[in-house]
Amino acid sequence: MNILGISCFFHDAAAALLRDGEIIAAAEEERFTRKKHDYSFPLNAIEFCLRTGGIRGEDLDLVVFFEKPFLKFERILSSAMQTFPRSRQVFQESMITWLTDKLWIKGLIRQKLRVAESKILFSDHHLSHAASAFFCSPFEKAAILTVDGVGEWATATYGVGNGTDIKILREIRFAHSLGLLYSTFTAFLGFEVNEGEYKVMGMAPFGRPRYVEKVWKLIQQEPDGSFRLNMEYFSFHRSTHSTYNNKFVDLFGRPRHPKAHFFTPSSGYPAYFGERPSDYDGLARENQHYADIAASIQVVTEEVLLTLARHLHRETGLRQLCMAGGVALNSVANGRILRETPFDELFVQPAAGDGGGAVGAALFGYHMALGKPREFVMRHAYWGQEYGSAEVDAFLKTNGVAHTRIENDDTLIPRVVDAIQAGKVVGWFQGRFEWGPRALGNRSILADPRSPAMKDIVNTKIKFREPFRPFAPSFLVDRAADFFDLPDPRRHYPALYMLYVVDVKERQRDRIPAITHIDGTARLQTVDRDVAPRYHRLIETFGDATGVPLLLNTSFNLKGEPIVNTPAEALSTFNRSGMDVLVLGQHVIEK
Ligand SMILES: [Fe+2]
Repeated sequence: MNILGISCFFHDAAAALLRDGEIIAAAEEERFTRKKHDYSFPLNAIEFCLRTGGIRGEDLDLVVFFEKPFLKFERILSSAMQTFPRSRQVFQESMITWLTDKLWIKGLIRQKLRVAESKILFSDHHLSHAASAFFCSPFEKAAILTVDGVGEWATATYGVGNGTDIKILREIRFAHSLGLLYSTFTAFLGFEVNEGEYKVMGMAPFGRPRYVEKVWKLIQQEPDGSFRLNMEYFSFHRSTHSTYNNKFVDLFGRPRHPKAHFFTPSSGYPAYFGERPSDYDGLARENQHYADIAASIQVVTEEVLLTLARHLHRETGLRQLCMAGGVALNSVANGRILRETPFDELFVQPAAGDGGGAVGAALFGYHMALGKPREFVMRHAYWGQEYGSAEVDAFLKTNGVAHTRIENDDTLIPRVVDAIQAGKVVGWFQGRFEWGPRALGNRSILADPRSPAMKDIVNTKIKFREPFRPFAPSFLVDRAADFFDLPDPRRHYPALYMLYVVDVKERQRDRIPAITHIDGTARLQTVDRDVAPRYHRLIETFGDATGVPLLLNTSFNLKGEPIVNTPAEALSTFNRSGMDVLVLGQHVIEK
């Protein structure tokens, strides 16, 4: 039985193919179209899924769309109506976009996939998030929490998963949204909404949460976890281009300029910012204020999630928790939920944002609509497209790219380890690309975590990222306890997907400065031999050589571009950056 799940038309578009309850393929559309966060109908991702499954559209037994377009349209219209005429523009724009494709998704699917209308189903946005977490988890029974910007009406839900069923117990509705609160600060701090939330999280440890009380003026939470925003401070519900208003600015001051460099007295001033400005001290102080705001919204977000989780535990008595929705990508909050609530185990869907809704929709179809039993557990994120050795070879030869082909990993892996030890930055491309926003060793850029200079080198030569953002480590799951406060690491599922921030052991911090954040934490990925044997071997060999069984791992892309999919994109990224070595499967290319 083949079920296709689709999510699109809002944030990240994606498709996923489920065969007899097992995922066969899943990918976000942006990897194919090279348009970051592409939300258009995911034709390329669908074609990839069907190709991988060896089927055509007409062979599908079911197609499930991740949300209900009419409900969503109703929400957009009725919230625009409430504040009309101030919301005239939202009203007009939504009429125009919704009356073209969005309401006619059934027709679109029928036409593009040639499936009968009776085979097309619609899930609910938050139910898709819930299904993407619970049905991928190893738990027979679990509490479920979904938190995002907004779906149709819901912005957060909680419930219980039991076998093949999910019951939503409570939902919080638009415009009261924790995700939109965080995004409002993302915009205020000069970053792009739906993209810069990580930057706010990375900026927070440079600040002190001095404005927590001010943030609590914007949101009130009840002991049962439900929350309300004070809409006097926001404009996202009636505007398409601004999220906060003058009253918000009165409270927090002038917004940060998007083009301004962010640096504080403790962040350092990287060489690639150019010459130090003459008013360096004044600017550093000003940025400190913004870092304090980032720290404050981060703390409040964590507190809201902790209260929700504690309540959910009280109400369900369960020890396992599943999470999805964009806010579940807040890896600092995930770490606190596991440490500070009675939940002992947490599973987060790696594509926690809307792309993940494609997997959730397909699983909803299989288990909830058709009542089929569960057998699948998502133990890794390698569900994207793969390129075989022959294909890579042909590509390199056709394009006359000088390379060495090393069939034996006994030779290849020590060679890569030598390069990393020598301070080189390595593009590491193998197998199927990852599902979700993180690169986990199949489309990664790797470097030596021991070098204090490495963060700046990777930033300067390749990523051009903000200097305050930490790089993450990939490390051997069985050696985790030596370096991190992570007891029983195999049970920490979010660490499989780099969705989990923990403390680096104090005595180890100086040994791995390139991946230790300013507050002594790291957002880590655990690597298991059974799941990623070749990547595991690479890290193990590096560990044998250096005593440090981990590597700095950042995604294989340039700033503003999606993570690479094909060998050609990897080569182009390699050529346009200061990367030193590129490994495409068994092929090594050096500059
Ligand atoms: Fe969502």
